[in-house]
Amino acid sequence: MRVTVSAPGKVILLGEHAVVYGEPAIALAIDRRTRVRARPSAASTTINGEPLSAHAHAYIRQAIQLLWKDEHGLSIETESTVPSAAGLGSSAALSVATVGALLALTDRFSEEECARSAYDVEFATQGRASPTDTSCASHGKAILIGPDGDRSALWRIRRGERSWTVQGIELPRLTLVVGSTGERGRTADQVAKVARFVDRSSFGRDVVRDIGRLVREGLEALRTEDLRRLGKVMDRDHALLTILGVSTPTIERMVAAARPASLGVKLTGAGGGGSVIALTERPADVVAAWKRMGHDAFIAEPAARGVAVEEKGDPT
Ligand code: PMV
Repeated sequence: MRVTVSAPGKVILLGEHAVVYGEPAIALAIDRRTRVRARPSAASTTINGEPLSAHAHAYIRQAIQLLWKDEHGLSIETESTVPSAAGLGSSAALSVATVGALLALTDRFSEEECARSAYDVEFATQGRASPTDTSCASHGKAILIGPDGDRSALWRIRRGERSWTVQGIELPRLTLVVGSTGERGRTADQVAKVARFVDRSSFGRDVVRDIGRLVREGLEALRTEDLRRLGKVMDRDHALLTILGVSTPTIERMVAAARPASLGVKLTGAGGGGSVIALTERPADVVAAWKRMGHDAFIAEPAARGVAVEEKGDPT
């Protein structure tokens, strides 16, 4: 038996960091995917022909520990068009696709099970994290994640005293440009930095709550298809993320360069490097502005599909 499973990367439109403290966030899947092909093998487990390594394959190893109870090893191959360590959910796409492949091999595949198990994998590998990226990579399209659950929720995920409800949301047509700072921001470091601020100061907690308010306003702007308002909300969210300390001089230069051609522009994901997103009616101008500065940039098309079994059967 051999399976191929893929899952998309994502951008966080609004609400990163505050979502760790139970505020809502909006994330959307983009058409960059990670693909995992897996089959049981008589020999010990290999990843892209190399022996499984705790350091190089931390997420895959965790997924195998969690889900693979078979005495056989596995032969796993991966490929990805999601830029790595760029705040675009590459580790979540890998976790979801790997978990999806292991679930498909054992006839347990479902979108929800992928979201749950992949969150366990991310949490075990990187520590404090919200299920935003893994839920988005599982469901695709766009999600609202937060405490205000209703009956249309896709699933609810608990960890300690926190619980998150994940809902699918409809988005109007919008054009986002993603620009890469070229700097690596480790998510765990940025989350720890914000935690020091939020745990020690009521001002920090106010900023987190203000981000939550902005996400609710952004949701309203999406519902009424008011992209100008959405852009302003993104700008204000970026200002608050700067106060939380997760912006960098490069991010600020990229934000300033994109602003004249954008409705809104902000860092996306953990920050400290990573990527910047611009909501714009002039995507070519934003791409050109960032490329002139030497940064990779692309127009992000939304991904309609979340985790998907692309192939399942006996290898020929
Ligand atoms: O891993 P990234 O860069 O997509 O950032 C994740 C978003 C955070 O809110 C900063 C952390 C989390 O787990 O939600």
